[in-house]
Amino acid sequence: MPRHFLRDDDLSPAEQKEVLALALRLAEDRFAERPLEGPRTVAILFDKSSTRTRVSFATGVAELGGSPLVMEAGSSQLGRGESIADTTKVLTRMASAIVWRTFGQDRIEEMAEHASVPVVNALTDQFHPCQILADLQTIAQHTGGLTPGDRPALAGRSLAYLGDGANNMAHSYLLGGATAGMDVRIAAPVGHRPEPSIVHAAEAIAERTGGSVLITDDPATAVRGATAVITDTWVSMGQEGESGRGEETFHRFQVTEELMELSGGIFLHCLPAYRGKEVAAAVIDGARSVVWDEAENRLHAQKALLTWLLRHPDEATAAHARPLDRR
Ligand code: CP
Repeated sequence: MPRHFLRDDDLSPAEQKEVLALALRLAEDRFAERPLEGPRTVAILFDKSSTRTRVSFATGVAELGGSPLVMEAGSSQLGRGESIADTTKVLTRMASAIVWRTFGQDRIEEMAEHASVPVVNALTDQFHPCQILADLQTIAQHTGGLTPGDRPALAGRSLAYLGDGANNMAHSYLLGGATAGMDVRIAAPVGHRPEPSIVHAAEAIAERTGGSVLITDDPATAVRGATAVITDTWVSMGQEGESGRGEETFHRFQVTEELMELSGGIFLHCLPAYRGKEVAAAVIDGARSVVWDEAENRLHAQKALLTWLLRHPDEATAAHARPLDRR
């Protein structure tokens, strides 16, 4: 059975640390791993817009010795109603891995059920786990590396996420940050808090890793002393027409210079960013911002992930951290 990466807690703390360590090595020595030499093909499918994910996976597969096959869903039969199961059965006869950006998490879970090669979540409505790997790598790079020994990757450090706490980034920070042993703080308006089942899952992971989870509607409480302050657009893909997603709801959660002073840490944003909305221009373009390193790390983190998944074909996907999930 192949290993998949559908949500952040599909990697155990030890496995996440292995992937992050490899990502840091690949950032130093870009062509050190060639698991796709042949070249073997990786199918990279998009149901939604993308710049960073598209370029980083296509570049990364090529740098691993493989051949990236980038497809828009609308240009494939999937976009005309062919089933996920039938599409997956065809792809797995030819490709060595499948990467998919799609809508509901149920869609990528269904693909994984029918795949005999690793399936990687390149963003769903619920999670964006590849982004979190890149972000954890970035935090490690800028704050002294991974924790030594057997401890989780970034144990003892803290991340504060401000904005829409119900979106895929907030959910992935909860699971991925807790897996890394971090103190994860989410500051969001009351009506935009994370999905309770994901908060419970993150709390369960944090209990084992020594991390913690805080959900608040006070940005200052969240950012005080935080290693990293993070935000995302207030309007995720597909929410463009929704009411209640503007300044009136989120203005208190804009990352300002004052909040960054209170933190003393670094600033991350997965991009694309909207200056003057979720972040002040002086912050994202300022000295504490590491967003361009973060964007580059999508490449290194995903190469590390693909390398790791291809090397671990026979182990069951980690069930350790999925107490509330159907697995
Ligand atoms: N951060 C991110 O996933 O960027 P894209 O939507 O451009 O891929």
